[in-house]
Amino acid sequence: MRLSHSLIPTLKETPAEAQIASHRLMLRAGLVRQTSAGIYAWLPIGYRVLRNIERIVRAEQDAIGAQECLMPTIQPAELWRESGRYEDYGKEMLRIRDRHDRELLYGPTNEEMITDLMRQSVKSYRELPQILYHIQWKFRDEVRPRFGVMRGREFLMKDAYSFDLDYAGAEVSYRQMMLAYMRTFQRLGLRAIPMAAESGPIGGNLSHEFIILAPTGESLVHYDSAFEEIDYLSRGAGGFDHTSATDLERFFTEMTTHYAATDEKHDPAAWEKVAQPRRREGRGIEVGHIFYFGTKYSAAMGLTVAGADGKPVHPEMGSYGIGVSRLVGAVIEASHDAAGIIWPDSIAPFRAAILNLKPGDAACDRICEDLYAKLGATALYDDRPDRAGVKFADADLMGHPWQIVVGPRGAATSQVELKRRATGERIELAADDVPARIA
Ligand SMILES: Nc1ncnc2c1ncn2[C@@H]1O[C@H](COP(=O)(O)OP(=O)(O)O)[C@@H](O)[C@H]1O
Ligand SMILES: [Mg+2]
Repeated sequence: MRLSHSLIPTLKETPAEAQIASHRLMLRAGLVRQTSAGIYAWLPIGYRVLRNIERIVRAEQDAIGAQECLMPTIQPAELWRESGRYEDYGKEMLRIRDRHDRELLYGPTNEEMITDLMRQSVKSYRELPQILYHIQWKFRDEVRPRFGVMRGREFLMKDAYSFDLDYAGAEVSYRQMMLAYMRTFQRLGLRAIPMAAESGPIGGNLSHEFIILAPTGESLVHYDSAFEEIDYLSRGAGGFDHTSATDLERFFTEMTTHYAATDEKHDPAAWEKVAQPRRREGRGIEVGHIFYFGTKYSAAMGLTVAGADGKPVHPEMGSYGIGVSRLVGAVIEASHDAAGIIWPDSIAPFRAAILNLKPGDAACDRICEDLYAKLGATALYDDRPDRAGVKFADADLMGHPWQIVVGPRGAATSQVELKRRATGERIELAADDVPARIA
């Protein structure tokens, strides 16, 4: 993209309404604009980040065999009457009437709809297990939307639903999903910790929230730093394979043995047993939540399959959410400095910005155009007729992993400067060597 012809409205001033770093930076770097309370438009670079996060979330869901589908945002009220949640959900649910006076709602979640879709088509135990997911906008009429996309009213969620024949199967699905989550967050450059959460009326230990530490988080959390050393992406000695039952068992044991708890579940006696230097505590942001709820919806809504003995069985279900739009804010909370955002390579809107310090200078223009042609869609070309200082500040603010600085002095000999945003490290090199260097 050429910055001179892009809707990337960066701001020098800090917007007064933003109380936390990620909200300030998302507005200042031109990622989003609020269109109604708690509802945001995603401008081009913000939307690129959102799509990059989606891509990683999707890849890890696909890797455990979950099937992507897309359910609508608008749902009929009848489905929610069947589960009993139409009244329970209260004012958070946005209720709508169509021209025929039929009651609809903008979905805050999709357990009822997916249960209905399964009951229409799945008949036999031979068709289970299955996991379905979609990445779709949700609406929850939060009393106090705040912190930008972190607690919005309309937000993008990946929600998955598992269907198994029995508890043992549901447990495997749950563990696979937990592993997919740890891999997802690591790929996003985050250290999310799984913390036992309220499991509701069903009991058991199968409800976890995934929380990252950040001073502006909404919950108080405590965990053992052992979590920070685990590499979920390696396949070798320390890694886990989601297709192996023993690996899944070992993984789940590790996730539930190290201490980790939100304030509601905190156990001071157990915490005392964690060695002092390994204790991490602070505020945390919930970026995901997984939940086993047995036959709650399958029983209420009459979803059955014929078991091996021919008798009808209500499948055991779980649901698994990731706050995709919240993650944009959460990543920024975890990765920024005084000058702006520092994107992890995996989700950066552009890999590099090309800063032309003297548009109109023949050598600068030639080198920049040439690099831009080679780097294509992975580069943002700052071709604006602005001062160098403005370009440096905006590039730092937008947080591209690499900045390619093209000034008249170096350009005369085809030399450019390459800056790594995360470390501030700068090197001089031949313009021709840049694409290989940042690949
Ligand atoms: N109002 C919101 N704005 C942005 N993201 C949200 C919001 N509510 C929930 N999420 C994200 O969706 C994930 C799943 O939601 P869920 O656990 O059902 O919500 P909650 O914890 O608010 O009851 C959460 O972990 C969070 O990342
Ligand atoms: Mg939750």
